[in-house]
Amino acid sequence: MSKVISVISGKGGVGKTTVTANVGVALSLLGHKTVIIDTDLGLRNLDLALGLENNVIYDMVDLAMGECRLREAVIKDERYGALGFIPTSQFKTDNNIDFERFKKIILELKRQYEYIIIDSPAGIGEGFETAAKLSDMALIVVNPEPFSLRDADRVAGLLENLGVKDMRLIINRVRPQMIDRGIMLNLDSVIEALGVRLVGVLYEDESVIEAAIFGMPVVLNKKSKIADEFNSIAKRINGENVPIENIKKKSVWRKLLKKK
Ligand SMILES: Nc1ncnc2c1ncn2[C@@H]1O[C@H](COP(=O)(O)OP(=O)(O)OP(=O)(O)O)[C@@H](O)[C@H]1O
Ligand SMILES: [Mg+2]
Repeated sequence: MSKVISVISGKGGVGKTTVTANVGVALSLLGHKTVIIDTDLGLRNLDLALGLENNVIYDMVDLAMGECRLREAVIKDERYGALGFIPTSQFKTDNNIDFERFKKIILELKRQYEYIIIDSPAGIGEGFETAAKLSDMALIVVNPEPFSLRDADRVAGLLENLGVKDMRLIINRVRPQMIDRGIMLNLDSVIEALGVRLVGVLYEDESVIEAAIFGMPVVLNKKSKIADEFNSIAKRINGENVPIENIKKKSVWRKLLKKK
């Protein structure tokens, strides 16, 4: 059975594209046939995150308007195993991809792929709604700060109204030292405030920024700690029981340090 997952946040810039690229690559390298779709019309980034910007010929708008076939729109790269990628349009912002056209594309993809991951636009506009309505699961990405939290809460309510029952939370850009100093929301308060099941905690990690510069998702960087967590998130999404250890480990570690 295939699963459509939209990556959403409400607030912009919290890590949706980073999560989409890395979870998509991780699922694919775990052997699951996966396609990732950029639906952020006019603000194309996912191609850069994957280092595939020079491979773009057709985009989502071309596909929706029937100007190319699905197999022509899906970009593949041997580094990413069975991963397919459909870029968004950089300039054709006026040609909105309406719900029926998008639904047709998703149904076609469902026949070919196990996971269809949609990098949704920030905000709660038409793009968000179209993606949400067709999703079996929503990954809500939040940063541990009040603006992101409030927007994620609003989005969780809207998702519920749109019929998305399976919501999972990814807390991104966590900085334990700031939490210790009381200037960043702690993880428990984020989880409690949103009431959404946690699927992963990602720390602030400069290898994410480095990866973006080199156009290589950080999950491929074996030296980076955050790569392990992206792999674990992919496994949890796939139903595997991978404990979320880093919260406890960090807090035990911090408690021990404080006792000295
Ligand atoms: N865990 C992390 N550690 C360090 N930097 C990160 C992390 N996650 C994301 N970033 C950086 O934060 C910036 C925003 O991330 P990203 O583009 O994935 O967010 P987004 O939610 O897709 O933004 P938009 O709403 O504009 O589409 C990028 O420069 C990215 O490299
Ligand atoms: Mg983005």
